[in-house]
Amino acid sequence: MNEIIYRTHNCGELCKKDIGKNVVLSGWIQKLRNLGSITFIDLRDYFGITQLILSKKLKKKNPELGKEFIIKISGIVGERVSKNYKIYTGEIEVFVSQLEILNYSTKPPFLIEDQTDGDEVSRMKYRYLDIRRNPIKNNLKLRHKISLEIRNFLSKNGFLEIETPILINHTPEGARSFVVPSRIHSRKFYSLPQSPQLFKQLLMIGGIDRYFQIVKCFRDEDARSDRQIEFTQIDCEMVFVNVNDILSFFENFIKHIFKEVKNIQLEPFKRISYSDAIKMYGTDTPDIQIDIKFLELKDFFFKRNSFFLKKKEFTMGVSIPNRSHYTCEKINFIIEQIKQKELEIETIFWLKYFPDKTFFSSMNSFMNNEEDLVKYFKANPGDLLFIFYGIKTEKKHKLNQLRLEIIHCLNLIEKRKKTLKPLWIIDFPLLEWNENIQKYKPFHHPFTNPKKEDVHFLEHFPENVRSQSYDLIINGVEIGGGSIRIHNKNIQNLILKHLGLSTKEIQSQFGFFINAFEYGVPPHGGIAFGLDRLISILEGKENIKEFIAFPKNNSGKDLMINAPYFLEKNKLKELNLLL
Ligand code: AMO
Repeated sequence: MNEIIYRTHNCGELCKKDIGKNVVLSGWIQKLRNLGSITFIDLRDYFGITQLILSKKLKKKNPELGKEFIIKISGIVGERVSKNYKIYTGEIEVFVSQLEILNYSTKPPFLIEDQTDGDEVSRMKYRYLDIRRNPIKNNLKLRHKISLEIRNFLSKNGFLEIETPILINHTPEGARSFVVPSRIHSRKFYSLPQSPQLFKQLLMIGGIDRYFQIVKCFRDEDARSDRQIEFTQIDCEMVFVNVNDILSFFENFIKHIFKEVKNIQLEPFKRISYSDAIKMYGTDTPDIQIDIKFLELKDFFFKRNSFFLKKKEFTMGVSIPNRSHYTCEKINFIIEQIKQKELEIETIFWLKYFPDKTFFSSMNSFMNNEEDLVKYFKANPGDLLFIFYGIKTEKKHKLNQLRLEIIHCLNLIEKRKKTLKPLWIIDFPLLEWNENIQKYKPFHHPFTNPKKEDVHFLEHFPENVRSQSYDLIINGVEIGGGSIRIHNKNIQNLILKHLGLSTKEIQSQFGFFINAFEYGVPPHGGIAFGLDRLISILEGKENIKEFIAFPKNNSGKDLMINAPYFLEKNKLKELNLLL
């Protein structure tokens, strides 16, 4: 048999020690430079790029050669005159003696190089061309490496990978579910899982000790840079654990992944309660790379009967380390910038606390409380203090915006993204009242256990109950979340009732689950991490699309396959969707 040999080596492996060898290579033409007497070709495959030299004669025989043609060549490896030490094959080149065109290509819609001129639309439409580029290809390699590391770590720690179904009923995770019509069961629909939440709990009831799954989840919500309608979770559940068991185990898990994959040693994760996070940062997803947090000053001013400050609903302070040297012009410039942002701030005062412990402040004329104030702030000499006055309490997110604006104005932004600062937010409220629908809604999901010390509020003051829940935040991005689950039937029923479900609705929607409570539900808890977000944060990037082989755009479309699509009338009929 005379079978074709496509390659003896790949395009990323030849080096100086191969000089003189006869080789066969196959790949795509990335670049072609015709110098008249010779032609240089950059030949690319999955592994790298090798420079080829074509004689004038050989080029003449193949005049049509162009970018992205696939060729197979034979030739001899030689030393390059002008070397490129940036790539592994940069010291050699191959003098081509034979060339065969394996396939043709029309002109690609964008440059298939590390730096491309392609916009997002064409890169998504021709995703297979985008994947040929190193940045995307390397992201997919990284994704593979992380997934492998996750599987190994969790398997070694006694977790069993178990697949759960995709065609299920609606799982309440707070988003809309995608539905799939059933052909056989007229007018009935499956839902795609927003997460495998109930199945992983049922696995624990089924006696499995530790479960995990790297699993696709589907949520019909508006996409953003860190959100896709179809995304991947690392979903985990364990029996006989408390909050601390979970936080400690998964802190180690995350540290292990960062160390193995990127050789990053993470510091111990801080733990902050939800209510403290809101007070200090105005958000439950704070980016703590920059240590700037708010301090409520209402009490301070109120006690001192200070001028009109006491009358206002909100007075917040912030202390910026090592900025007392800022000139008044510079401070006023910052204040002007902040005021333009419509953050509902009426006045901004400032105080410079110099390294020699003297003060200079915009409030001198009416306050004289500087020494006390500095103590209250626990400020260090050299700090610059700002006091913001007039922010409305009910708009907490404004406080977060204000914090981000301060970080921006002080040019601290550059410092962000360089360090990775994970933190756990714990003790979220169990339920929140939704004015629009006049019902309670779960803060996480309805299977979250209340904190033991708050259970007595559950019947009559459910909004006062905190839950045994936690989120992992890294640099302002929610990477994971979970909770200890309810294993008491009465509490589960009560919470579903607080959500406005009648006994009949509970039975029809969650009957299978509530019934399982009759058969010995073990205490259990778990967490799910967003794999796409985890990878992008590891790489210091914001857009998770770059780490997904075939992502959807921000309006949920797959531009390559043109999904979603219209169904023909006869198909709609078959699915009983046409009256
Ligand atoms: P949660 O809804 O917090 O919890 O989801 C867990 C993590 O999944 C990621 N994530 C997303 N990533 C990309 N696109 C999205 N649309 C998207 N939505 C969520 C986030 C998030 O932290 N069943 C519970 C987990 C549990 O209680 O064990 C759940 O799904 O990183």
